[in-house]
Amino acid sequence: MKRITLLLVAVLMLAGIITFTAPASLHADDSATPIFVTKIPPGYRDWRLISVSHEAGNLNSIGAVLGNDVAIQAYREGKLPYPDGAIIAALHYGHVPSAENNKVFGQAQSFVAGPPTNIQFMVKDSTKYAATGGWGFATFIDGKPATAASMKSCFPCHNQVKASDLVFTHYAP
Ligand code: HEC
Repeated sequence: MKRITLLLVAVLMLAGIITFTAPASLHADDSATPIFVTKIPPGYRDWRLISVSHEAGNLNSIGAVLGNDVAIQAYREGKLPYPDGAIIAALHYGHVPSAENNKVFGQAQSFVAGPPTNIQFMVKDSTKYAATGGWGFATFIDGKPATAASMKSCFPCHNQVKASDLVFTHYAP
């Protein structure tokens, strides 16, 4: 008798699981399309420096990579994967010569941050952004989110550095 009850419970549980998962699987296509971050994380300008980088070529940008407290702590402790709540910001500017600085140096040698080009973020939320390695990607130009189409390249490229949890930038001591 006890066995039958147990079996019945098991069957009911299974039925429950099927009914719960069936609607979810209908949305399989939705979850395959990555979700992007569309709001600028507040306070990013006060975050701490992870490193700086310069891209030549068409980008010709200079940038600072900053981390919020969760990201900085993970970096300093060498903790991988990055915990939920970690946010990394990349602030990009034009890479321009500074006539003002060159004057005092007496020769052309100074390059500084020009006008901002974009701000990019990677926001760690392993549940929400499970489809893109746990990271939500974001680009803002003039404070406005970039088009969804332009965001499709982020994950496939960053996914090439799985060993560092999709993050390229190393901590500059
Ligand atoms: C072709 C490869 C490629 C694509 C596509 C790409 N990235 Fe990156 N990303 C890099 C590399 C390489 C770095 C490190 C060098 C640098 O900072 O310029 C980087 C750095 C970053 C960083 C700083 C954290 C880190 O991983 O070092 C953020 C944030 C970022 N990218 C966001 C984005 C977003 C958002 C997109 C999509 C719009 C994107 N990236 C598309 C290659 C790529």
